[in-house]
Amino acid sequence: MALLELEGISKQFHARGGKGIVRAVNDVSLSIDAGETVALIGESGSGKSTLGRLVLRLLEPDQGAVRFEGIDLTKLNTKEMREVRARLQVVFQEPFESLNPRMSVGDIVSEPLIIHNRAMNSSEREIRVRETLERVGLRPDSATRLPGQLSGGQQQRVGIARAIITNPSLIVLDEPTSSLDLSVRAQILTLLADLQRELGLAYLFISHDISTVEYVSQRIAVMYLGEILETGPVTDVIKDPRHPYTRALLSSRLSTDPNESLPRLRLIGDIGSPTDVREIGCVLAPRCPMVIDACRDRKIELEPFAPHHDVACIRAAETSDALLASSSSGIEYN
Ligand SMILES: Nc1ncnc2c1ncn2[C@@H]1O[C@H](COP(=O)(O)OP(=O)(O)OP(=O)(O)O)[C@@H](O)[C@H]1O
Ligand SMILES: [Mg+2]
Repeated sequence: MALLELEGISKQFHARGGKGIVRAVNDVSLSIDAGETVALIGESGSGKSTLGRLVLRLLEPDQGAVRFEGIDLTKLNTKEMREVRARLQVVFQEPFESLNPRMSVGDIVSEPLIIHNRAMNSSEREIRVRETLERVGLRPDSATRLPGQLSGGQQQRVGIARAIITNPSLIVLDEPTSSLDLSVRAQILTLLADLQRELGLAYLFISHDISTVEYVSQRIAVMYLGEILETGPVTDVIKDPRHPYTRALLSSRLSTDPNESLPRLRLIGDIGSPTDVREIGCVLAPRCPMVIDACRDRKIELEPFAPHHDVACIRAAETSDALLASSSSGIEYN
């Protein structure tokens, strides 16, 4: 049994300050096994954070099931959900904004224990907080400091300490390194990988940048305008991307590799508006250089392309050939 199973979840919003409906997440199914990292990749506005919030039940899905440890979270009441939250935690992008600036680091990190481990007394809590601070690479005496007295990297370590202190089995990481400097980013990625190994954690790692998650994830799901367009083992998806959207996301990364022979691909125009998403047809059709009429007439489902590698593109088998043929015929995609 998978640790997390999303089955056909959808979430729509009324467009902010305007007319229309935003189809932020549209009929998404995805699973994560215990101890696994699944990277959720896509441009800004593709629905990644909404999907993360649906997993955490910070948002209610309009449709579909969110099963965690075999339980459908959408059926739980507030008290039942609170018990589950100890094992289902989150780390956000902006560490400072997600930490109460008036609370000491020790209080921030022990707060989840007060909520979830009520049997623990204050001296047991204090020991646990110190251990957890050390585990994330902070000195135990950081407990007395305020978040504002710490660097960005240290603040994110506090966010991670708060997430792991209740022994979760899954953590949703929503762009946990995007606001950090490059060198600090690498340290936090190493810490997350170490914690995963030591504690057997599973991660849903949300990022707009494939190169951030490439070395810390086992599987990847590529999202665009509310839908997952390609999913599979990281090495398969990166070496043999089959959806033109995945190929486009990889193109900037591939350009740094002199041995890379895959043709590059650039999409037409900017990310579409989620209020204009059509009910049928491929969401990428207006931007796709490989589009044919059949892409617009019916719903394009994720289908197996290779073992564990699913692609929502009716031309998945031809991606490389089609692009090679068109690049040798002089049509430029990059
Ligand atoms: N509460 C809301 N009300 C209206 N629209 C919303 C709401 N939350 C998200 N959206 C819209 O849903 C779409 C998906 O947003 P989401 O934040 O999930 O994208 P994202 O992939 O996380 O983007 P980013 O990389 O910028 O964080 C966007 O068009 C966004 O404007
Ligand atoms: Mg987001």
